[in-house]
Amino acid sequence: MNKIIVAIDGYSSCGKSTIAKALAKHAGYTYVDTGAMYRAIGLYTLRHRLTAEKDIIAALPQIEIGFIRVDDVQHVTLNGEDVEPFIRTLEVGNRASEISQIKEVRAFLVAQQQRMGEAKGIVMDGRDIGTVVFPDAELKLFLTASPEVRAQRRYDELVAKGGTPRYADVLADVNDRDYRDTHRAESPLRQAEDAVVVDNSHMTPDEQMKVIIALFEEKLAQLE
Ligand code: DC
Repeated sequence: MNKIIVAIDGYSSCGKSTIAKALAKHAGYTYVDTGAMYRAIGLYTLRHRLTAEKDIIAALPQIEIGFIRVDDVQHVTLNGEDVEPFIRTLEVGNRASEISQIKEVRAFLVAQQQRMGEAKGIVMDGRDIGTVVFPDAELKLFLTASPEVRAQRRYDELVAKGGTPRYADVLADVNDRDYRDTHRAESPLRQAEDAVVVDNSHMTPDEQMKVIIALFEEKLAQLE
């Protein structure tokens, strides 16, 4: 059977990685979380106190991003170190959003992402997958949900981890990140013309999964 590339783009906190992982499992494909790659570079710049764009660009040859599997879960590595435990914080997320605006950082990661997709059989999620990384992907999904719904989901996650966030702060952060992701000069988040939009504001994870598996199976059948 033909293997395809599935590109999943969308705003932060709209459940891209959950759905991408589940679809990859269903299809027996490799899942690649490109946000984790930007986060790992963000972490590197925080650890090395790099703030000037030219210093970040100069450091790129010293940065190697990879993936390993730990207990059947994908973890991102930075120069061989499993940095998964450090990259999911608000601080690293915000830094990732900042460094993702640098053209050279994007070119560095896009080239690596394109190599990872050479053999197809991949589900990749991010912001520019259907537009820049794989403009010819056979299936492109654009996930969306209202900012309030996404802020509530992120708030619930932070509370579940023992945090005491304020909903208003979480919502403001969601709106700021959306603004930065959609307004940056380099590869801003936008919907590819041939992407299927899935608004999951009022869907349960199971309902969403059914919709996405149906789209995937339909695409495979078309290509048979
Ligand atoms: O999906 P995430 O929240 O883990 O992504 C972290 C940041 O990385 C996000 O603010 C935007 C950036 N990013 C990007 O610019 N392009 C991608 N393909 C993936 C993420």
